[in-house]
Amino acid sequence: MPSNVFPSPHPLVAHKLTKLRDRNTDPKKFRELIREIAALIAYEVTRDLTTVPTRVVTPMGETQGYVLREKIGLVPILRAGLGMVEGIWDLMPSSEVWHIGLYRDERTLKPVEYYNKLPIEPTVSVCLVLDPMLATGGSAVAAVDILKRWGVSKIKFVGLIAAPEGIDNLSRHHPDVPIHLAAVDSHLNDIGYIVPGLGDAGDRQFGTA
Ligand code: PRP
Ligand code: URA
Repeated sequence: MPSNVFPSPHPLVAHKLTKLRDRNTDPKKFRELIREIAALIAYEVTRDLTTVPTRVVTPMGETQGYVLREKIGLVPILRAGLGMVEGIWDLMPSSEVWHIGLYRDERTLKPVEYYNKLPIEPTVSVCLVLDPMLATGGSAVAAVDILKRWGVSKIKFVGLIAAPEGIDNLSRHHPDVPIHLAAVDSHLNDIGYIVPGLGDAGDRQFGTA
């Protein structure tokens, strides 16, 4: 495994991912599982965030505490990344959420940008790009390109399932971006879907299959 790729070793992630993959899992359960797995992975992703010491007064006295130093942006790639926001936002409620709209052209498999309302100046110093599926990697590369152009240099990709092709593509274009995942799968099929994967993550969340 390349040194910038971090598949979660956590048994709860493996358990929930298995339910998520199951073709009999309905959209309501699917959304719950995405939210829960995203939160579990976020715990690992945020391990290296820096803190600032602060004093805190408890009902029993005063002690040393710590608060997060960096301003964090959660950047879901529409649509499928949306389902990962809530679980992570619960853990870091002061994060900003910036949406990027990209869809994959079914014929060329290239990403097409359709929504981006980032202000001119960056408002965060760390961005977590959220997208459950890293297939060819085109969408992730495009999202990271957009964030780097915006002026953010500390970027992490947070996904659920990746194909080796997507990992290679993202690592080649952005070797500085760590890739956090629930699992790395076997390959892409001839229409660009991850095998075994879970099917279409957007359609399964939003009931649009
Ligand atoms: C899916 C997925 C990723 C992209 C991955 O989105 O959520 O954004 O495909 O593929 P890639 O790595 O080959 O770029 P999709 O285009 O299906 O849009 P949706 O989320 O709106 O359904
Ligand atoms: N997008 C998905 O939703 N699933 C895949 O397997 C590949 C791209």
